[in-house]
Amino acid sequence: MSKALADVRVLDFTHVQSGPTCTQLLAWFGADVIKVERPGEGDATRGQLRDIPGVDSLYFTMLNHNKRSVTLNAKTAKGKQVLDSLIAHCDVLVENFAPGAMERMGLTWAHIQKVNPRMIVASVKGFGPGQYEHCKVYENVAQCAGGAASTTGFDDGPPVVSGAQIGDSGTGLHLALGIVTALYQRERTGRGQQVLAPMQDAVLNLCRVKLRDQQRLERTGTLHEYPQYPDGRFGEAVPRAGNASGGGQPGSILRCKGWETDPNAYIYFITQAAVWPAVCQVIGEEGWIADEAYATPQARLLHLKPIFARIEQWTMSKTKYEAMEILNRYDIPCGPILSMKEIAQDPGLRKTGTVVEVDHPTRGRHLTVGNPIKLSDSPTEVTRAPLLGEHTDEVLAELGYSAGDLELLRSEGAI
Ligand code: COA
Repeated sequence: MSKALADVRVLDFTHVQSGPTCTQLLAWFGADVIKVERPGEGDATRGQLRDIPGVDSLYFTMLNHNKRSVTLNAKTAKGKQVLDSLIAHCDVLVENFAPGAMERMGLTWAHIQKVNPRMIVASVKGFGPGQYEHCKVYENVAQCAGGAASTTGFDDGPPVVSGAQIGDSGTGLHLALGIVTALYQRERTGRGQQVLAPMQDAVLNLCRVKLRDQQRLERTGTLHEYPQYPDGRFGEAVPRAGNASGGGQPGSILRCKGWETDPNAYIYFITQAAVWPAVCQVIGEEGWIADEAYATPQARLLHLKPIFARIEQWTMSKTKYEAMEILNRYDIPCGPILSMKEIAQDPGLRKTGTVVEVDHPTRGRHLTVGNPIKLSDSPTEVTRAPLLGEHTDEVLAELGYSAGDLELLRSEGAI
């Protein structure tokens, strides 16, 4: 079967997490992704958080599937020549270096356009143009600067960053969409263009409901679905909402049977208006269906704490799986709090290939997250991450370099 991006060649100049997430997606969709790394060292994540001495880390192997690796010193004259051949050969260059690093390597937009006017140059930076544009940025900095941390956590505690890597992987996703959009436009114009996804902006895009709430707060002085309502006080900015649902349907995380010893024996429970009578039936509070203090969503907002306390009495009598099973019979939206251990063993995720096992020559078999985006005409086969420089000779031969050229480049430290 064909792959959606089969004829797209990507010069992958990315490292750490944000850029590699983006190029991994393109590779899963069939693009030929050529990862260019520094000779001897490679992407810093190869050596970070290692669980097996001397073996590429899971950090690296889980972010660089389906790619080829070339080692190239872009700061040598010969290395720059090879890089220009790669620019001429590829459709897209993706990078997430610190601000200014590309220019210091001589890879200005003007230079790249001269070599290949069809080239799409896609970048992740921490910030867009402005006061912080020169700053280096990692995941949690982006979560803090993009509005996620100030709106996450509990009202009486400090800002909290999330386990979901919305700064890195979230930005990589945004960049991938920018790239395929630019490729689509190039079909008409024949021109390349620059694509920029700043991490702060990507996080804010994922936090847009909180900017919605900021404006609602400024207009009305309150946010009825937040746990601060009706007893607590609102300040000038959107407060941390704990586990309250971000939408118009109130929700909460409730304890289930076994919570005393199992830190994940919890369920997320949403009191969706459409199924309120069913909720009342399940928990044995049929009287609440007609009681005017509870009958309408508006009335319930005044009593959310006692309502969830009563529902929790019921959830505590069931395991999270039993509760799921019963609640779904009534179409009541809910979700078990799954640990990473449970997710790793989840048969459904295994079946769809979202959790998948791959082999690796030095690491052996290991678990990874496959492509979460499913295309019916472009199936993803997850293949292992490359060893450092594993494809240098192969890729350079495709560019027209002879065995003698390679020897010379190697002796000069360019590859
Ligand atoms: N050949 C020669 N030099 C190379 C090279 C190669 N193949 N690959 C990288 N380098 C050089 C760069 O040119 C740069 O040199 P310079 O500082 O002299 O210009 C150097 O390696 C280091 O790159 P840099 O990006 O500054 O790495 P860092 O480890 O200091 O910083 C980040 C890491 C992530 C903080 C930084 O890259 C950054 O802010 N990136 C943008 C935001 C981002 O993506 N953050 C999320 C990361 S998950």
